Amino acid sequence: MEPFQPQVLSQDEIRAMLTQVTEEEFAEAKTHSLVNLKRQILYEGQPGGAVVTDTAGNQYIDCTSQAWSLNIGYCHPDVMATVLEQMRHLTHVRYGYATIPRIKLLNRLPRLFPGELTKVVLNNQGGASGIEGAMKLAMINKPGATVFLTAYRGYHGCTLGTLAASHYMRGLQRFSGYGLDHFHKFPYPHCYRCPIGRELRTCGLACLELVEEVMLYGATAPIAGLIIEPMQGAGGQVPTPPGYLAGLKELCQRHGIFLIYDESQTAFGRCGAMSAAEYYGVAPDMMVLTKGLGGGFPVGALLARGDLKGFSAAEEHTTFSSSPVSFAAALAAIEVTLRLDLPGRARKLNERATARLRHMQEEHPLIGDVRGPGMFIGVELVEDQQTKVPSTERATALVELAAMLGVIFDVDMPEVIAGRPTFRNTIKIKPPLTITEEQLDQALDVFEQVLQQVEQFGPDELASVREQMMKEAAPR
Ligand SMILES: Cc1ncc(COP(=O)(O)O)c(C=O)c1O
Repeated sequence: MEPFQPQVLSQDEIRAMLTQVTEEEFAEAKTHSLVNLKRQILYEGQPGGAVVTDTAGNQYIDCTSQAWSLNIGYCHPDVMATVLEQMRHLTHVRYGYATIPRIKLLNRLPRLFPGELTKVVLNNQGGASGIEGAMKLAMINKPGATVFLTAYRGYHGCTLGTLAASHYMRGLQRFSGYGLDHFHKFPYPHCYRCPIGRELRTCGLACLELVEEVMLYGATAPIAGLIIEPMQGAGGQVPTPPGYLAGLKELCQRHGIFLIYDESQTAFGRCGAMSAAEYYGVAPDMMVLTKGLGGGFPVGALLARGDLKGFSAAEEHTTFSSSPVSFAAALAAIEVTLRLDLPGRARKLNERATARLRHMQEEHPLIGDVRGPGMFIGVELVEDQQTKVPSTERATALVELAAMLGVIFDVDMPEVIAGRPTFRNTIKIKPPLTITEEQLDQALDVFEQVLQQVEQFGPDELASVREQMMKEAAPR
């Protein structure tokens, strides 16, 4: 018997279930959905590429890689072939069981990153699960320590624990109280908006002193770990400056605090290296991975120093966190990333995009800053180059208009303070690393075209964009 010959359903039924949908069905689904749905119904990705088509036949160049995850593009043929092969054998096992993909992934991951990160725990939930795993591991290895340091405007997930670890968003006040007392925040080294008003050339990384102050005086209980994105993603595409992580590591070592990198976004070629740890040449005690790892399938991982004590059976497991299918996808995605030298490709694409964007910056005062390595680019829009007032409404409009012209961009983390949207003014340019030069140029053409449009907006248009934004941000 051919594998995958349906026994109960007909092949036609299956095809119809997955390829046909009416406007009425979509409208009804929106009434059921507890979360907002975007207006397009995405349907088909270009195999291994950056283009996605919706059910109306519109094509988009995706500069978001679907939450910065499709580093090797949509439905990469090698991942699809690997997954199909795995599906002939097993799709789900209980957490404690070894499977061949799990064994190979456990052995593969430690070889990809610097330092002594030889212990691994895998999951199929993603970044938040990895971060919570890291927190538990830090507490196991430093008994009695229950506090973590995290950065302003950091983002580590949407579970109650990781929301508390993330930048405190007033828009999420409904959950406040859950775990907030376990996190103490320190200013992130956002050099374009330096928290202490210094210049990178001369500051001597003085902001590290603020971190040490929090370590010394800011915590109400012993500190287990410091969790940081080596390059902030949601917080505005902000790489830490050279030397910062080395300084942070020295501080953590001196104070007996585990240094935990959240590399959910930065790894697997995204930043022009296999990891930000490699990019900066500074290895942490623990590293959280997800997104690009699974090649489009849900996989997360926590890597930890080899000398650390691991979990007991009950401490780290979920029903679906041992998917042989997803682990197989990850194995294939890793090989594709390495054999196509996608980190190198991301560096080359960065040169191309950054040169063009810097040129645009000279002509458009709306562009305050262009930053980020690899395909981890942020373009910060400001109302005024001197005051750097965030150009939130223009950025939102730019994303909307670009989508109408067939390019998907996104902005940094939403935050509404006192009834006013703040920030959300950094346009993220993070397409699959397999995007062609032509597609990247096309995306930047659209970027420039809509930039010119939103530059012309007057107060009325800005007010109406803001009104729409507030409606979408409002609690359901
Ligand atoms: C840096 C970072 N950490 C953690 C997460 C959370 O990952 P997940 O949504 O897979 O739980 C994200 C998600 O965007 C992220 O960008």
